[in-house]
Amino acid sequence: MEHKQLKPFPNNFLWGSASAAYQIEGAWNEDGKGPSVWDVYTKKEGTTYKGTNGDVAVDHYHRYKEDVALMAEMGLKAYRFSIAWSRIYPQGKGEVNEAGLKFYDDLIDELIKHNIEPLVTVYHWDVPQALMDEYGAWESRQIIEDFDNYCSTLFKRYGDRVKHWVTLNEQNIFVGLGYRDAIHPPGVKDLKRMYQANHIANLANARVIQSFRKLVPDGKVGPSFAYGPAYPFDSNPKNVIAAENAEEMNSHWWMDIYVWGKYPQATWNYLEDNGLAPTIEEGDMELLANAKPDFMGLNYYQSGTFEHNPLEGGVGATKMNTSGKKGTSKDSGAPGLFKTIKNPYLDTTDWDWTIDPQGIRIALRRISNRYQLPVLITENGLGAFDTLEEGDIVNDDYRIDYLQSHVEAIQEAISDGVDVLGYCTWSYTDLLSWLNGYQKRYGFVYVNRDEDGPKDLRRIKKKSFYWYQDVIKNNGLK
Ligand code: BG6
Repeated sequence: MEHKQLKPFPNNFLWGSASAAYQIEGAWNEDGKGPSVWDVYTKKEGTTYKGTNGDVAVDHYHRYKEDVALMAEMGLKAYRFSIAWSRIYPQGKGEVNEAGLKFYDDLIDELIKHNIEPLVTVYHWDVPQALMDEYGAWESRQIIEDFDNYCSTLFKRYGDRVKHWVTLNEQNIFVGLGYRDAIHPPGVKDLKRMYQANHIANLANARVIQSFRKLVPDGKVGPSFAYGPAYPFDSNPKNVIAAENAEEMNSHWWMDIYVWGKYPQATWNYLEDNGLAPTIEEGDMELLANAKPDFMGLNYYQSGTFEHNPLEGGVGATKMNTSGKKGTSKDSGAPGLFKTIKNPYLDTTDWDWTIDPQGIRIALRRISNRYQLPVLITENGLGAFDTLEEGDIVNDDYRIDYLQSHVEAIQEAISDGVDVLGYCTWSYTDLLSWLNGYQKRYGFVYVNRDEDGPKDLRRIKKKSFYWYQDVIKNNGLK
């Protein structure tokens, strides 16, 4: 669809940026915080790029005022951050840690003082290690109670000031990388366990949405989903079916549950036939059907292109590029279902992620058509090498190009009729990229640190900082 004239961004559009606790805070064992699974996992040999971890990260815990001041200077309307569960409950449950609660009180107040709306993610992958040790975290139904208790504590404490809440960040990623690919904690390769843990996470998500309705009746809540629209390689019906399989197994499997409380049929049948389906107990489906979110959070980085993958001798597991050496990732798939293939129309980043601005428009349209919900873009950005030039200059024109083309595509989607609530770029400052160290940078603000250590952690505004400042001022592109 081509528009003679694009519709403007709504007046109350949330121009924002995002982060996650483990990737920015540091202070991993300060003021009563307990260890999370990431504090433990990153210290195991060979798990992350050059052994990097978030012990210090970009030291946001101690520098949050400086960071918020920079956000205010930029004119940011909203800031999405996550709360570290083990700062609030060091053991995951039991005694609450007042110092942890106070840190986020102070951060929220600082944001509000600068007219920046706080958007809170309750879970961005850092489950307390104590719960992993006690009952295997997401693999036990006990977590439903503990997660609800933790979230209810947050809703009661911050619900007066925080009106937009994200429940689980990228459930598809944390269960997939944690239990299928074994590259996130707990480092397991077992599809049966993956689908079971995922079902339990769905139940936990539904339960906290129900608590939210009671505790923050005037607030809005939704999950953030990592959605990359699936494209068929070409019009060969075999490849179209492969893309349908990928779309259903990689995306509808989660989003249908969030919105309708139903698992899509073809995937369910496939899992049952292969002994992988989760165990459904009495009451599960009722709970899932009665916890509809107010919006779908969309984390969009790239689309995926798929072709047929034979059952016999088809391609399986993936090899991810975590070094930034372009071309080192391998095609991946599931035999009998789909495999990835390079899209000849799209360039890629140094980490082999496709660059596809129209993909965000396609994602927005598909979500909006299928689920009839507004969409809050909770992440989008470019991970790239940046060069700090003399005089504290970072000319990140490639990041501006990436973001600008995505903002254009979002405006097209709005003109198509999609209700988009806001746009949070990933990320505000540079931060720890879980498996890729500090060299894969996403921020508007350069942080002077690398894999070898925290250096002076100086904050430096990149060229993209000024670009986004302008976009916000104009409520869109000029
Ligand atoms: C999302 C996560 O998957 O993508 C973020 O929610 C993450 O936490 C971001 O950092 C970019 O991924 P990566 O692997 O490049 O850091």
